[in-house]
Amino acid sequence: MRVIIQENYDKMCKWAAALICDRINAHKEDRPFVLGLPTGSSPIGVYKELIAKNKAGEVSFKNVVTFNMDEYLGLPHEHDQSYWYFMHDNLFDHLVDMKSENINILNGMTDDPEGECARYEEKIASYGGIDLFMGGIGVDGHLAFNEPYTSLTSRTGVRDLTTDTRIVNSRFFGNDPEKVPAKALSVGIGTVCDSKEVLVLISGHNKARALAAVVEGGVSQKWTCSALQMHNGAYIACDEEACGELTVDTYKYFLDIEKKERL
Ligand code: GLP
Repeated sequence: MRVIIQENYDKMCKWAAALICDRINAHKEDRPFVLGLPTGSSPIGVYKELIAKNKAGEVSFKNVVTFNMDEYLGLPHEHDQSYWYFMHDNLFDHLVDMKSENINILNGMTDDPEGECARYEEKIASYGGIDLFMGGIGVDGHLAFNEPYTSLTSRTGVRDLTTDTRIVNSRFFGNDPEKVPAKALSVGIGTVCDSKEVLVLISGHNKARALAAVVEGGVSQKWTCSALQMHNGAYIACDEEACGELTVDTYKYFLDIEKKERL
């Protein structure tokens, strides 16, 4: 697992967007480039960069198929807190050449959640798997909606959200945790780990404990993102603020070994 420490959130986003564009532009196979995407505050700066680069003609999404990580169960597309709405509002509606038929987001209004999740896995497989999965992380280390103690080999399925996560996400629901759906559909840790490359964004003081656990702790289902320690193409892009709980030697090690990546 590589850890790329940037000075601040903006630089972290610029670095992550450059990596994504690099990979899309380097993709020469006949099949489309398959990109996994997250929601949340963390990727917003990356999406702004991708939109700017797409408009400037530096990257095309014509041959890109996307799969989102997760969706709340019970929220319709038009709900402004659905992840479908978030993705269109923050990314897809602004790209000049993204094809709507290439966008895949779990349907939170399905009457067959298990079937919906099984079909999602099949569809990912039908494209030959995911080339690059970008993710964010919860303060408790969750990746997608794989809360602490979700199996590290889990596949796409229905997830119960913890009270902690509902409290954290209540900032988008009028600060009322009861208004945050109690369940979600989410890709599994196994689904993410099957991707050729994984890029997780970790920004801000509130993620410092999670970053330290994921990088310095052992592989543990308590911090589900720690499964990436076993992945041969995993990047964590973080900012200085998120490094507050790393030991000094870990921090110095990654600054040294990744100094070429520093913007
Ligand atoms: C939600 C999402 C996660 C996301 C996390 C962190 O719980 N399901 O995929 O990574 O929030 O969000 P933020 O980037 O806003 O801190």
